[in-house]
Amino acid sequence: MPLFGKKEEAKVDFSCLPRHIAIIMDGNGRWAKGRGLPRTAGHAAGAETFRTIATYCRDIGIQYLTVYAFSTENWKRPAQEVSAIMGLLRKYLLEAVRDMEKEKVRFVFFGDLTPLPEELRQLCREVQSDSARFEGCQVNICVNYGGRDEIVRAAKAFAADCAAGKRKAEELTEEEFSLGLWSAGIPDPELVIRPGGEERTSNFLLWQSAYSEFYFTDVNWPDFGKEELRKALAAYQSRSRRFGGI
Ligand code: IPE
Ligand code: IPE
Ligand code: MG
Repeated sequence: MPLFGKKEEAKVDFSCLPRHIAIIMDGNGRWAKGRGLPRTAGHAAGAETFRTIATYCRDIGIQYLTVYAFSTENWKRPAQEVSAIMGLLRKYLLEAVRDMEKEKVRFVFFGDLTPLPEELRQLCREVQSDSARFEGCQVNICVNYGGRDEIVRAAKAFAADCAAGKRKAEELTEEEFSLGLWSAGIPDPELVIRPGGEERTSNFLLWQSAYSEFYFTDVNWPDFGKEELRKALAAYQSRSRRFGGI
């Protein structure tokens, strides 16, 4: 089956889309540099791309979209860049509160929000609880998220339950362990997309992506439009997923 139809449009079968797409939103800084702009302008443009892609995913019927917005390692960046990213998150969430009734998207945060400014944390909690009633599309925003951190937390919680006599180590299964992750109850992503040209996970969804299909593109996140998403979906649909079988 050809991947591209007329006018080079990616050919997607919208009747068998992945249930869960995950995106490493990378390349904002390089996008800005290429235009002679400050890195923060790239983050602002990236936030707009997020809006476009989240809306498109909802419209085509994607059930779960998980986006990597800020990693446990991103604190290494200059304080001014970190605070600009937090400021953009705040702006986005205030708009999400304003548009919630119209957009009808459920938001969930993955990651330990404790190091965030208190006002921003409160806003995250508010957005998550107020949008919990919406069904259809769930957007998981990973903030101060790290795959290793997530696994260590789940292991610690399990060990504490064992020490308290609530659970037994020998009875632990993969399914049960996964209930201790931020993604508890959510199917694993069938597709992980990384724009920006790098071909690594950078600590994203390490447990959940065990059998995900990966799609890498040199397009920077601020330039990643609907057609880029369709290309990723077409590539995903051309893959043969074997899960260790034949
Ligand atoms: C991704 O873009 C955004 C965050 C990591 C917060 P980058 O800021 O990493 O952009 P590049 O990789 O430097 O181009
Ligand atoms: C991954 O991008 C994190 C996010 C997109 C939030 P990075 O830019 O931090 O990853 P590295 O440093 O290139 O691995
Ligand atoms: Mg980067």
